[in-house]
Amino acid sequence: MRLDHIGIAVADLAAAARLWGAELGLEVGEVETVRGMGVRVQKFEAANATIELLEDATDGQGTIGKFLESRGPGIHHLSFEVEDLAAATARLTASGYRVLYDAPRDGAGGWRVNFLHPKDALGVLIELMERPPA
Ligand code: CO
Repeated sequence: MRLDHIGIAVADLAAAARLWGAELGLEVGEVETVRGMGVRVQKFEAANATIELLEDATDGQGTIGKFLESRGPGIHHLSFEVEDLAAATARLTASGYRVLYDAPRDGAGGWRVNFLHPKDALGVLIELMERPPA
């Protein structure tokens, strides 16, 4: 698998973008609202890694709002690209791991995504993502 990005939950995307863009010098991407996930996403490219900032796009009751309320801002997930998301999740659930969604959902950039439950993954929320069809 290829590590695609590191997701970080933030309370204020604009303030966080100043740090990652202007101050640290990463290449700044567009802000994208992913309605099905209730988040606003902005990606920042380092030479060898992508940072994905996640801001709650609901009234605070979305996954990022709840994460911020219970844990505060910080690293939220690691995301890996897989060739075949359905096959990867089927293999993991057959081995007893739980995934967050019954079926893959649309994530940022139209990638199909699902998540491995952090309680089954040593406390780390792991996102698996499959490239959208060309
Ligand atoms: Co992500």
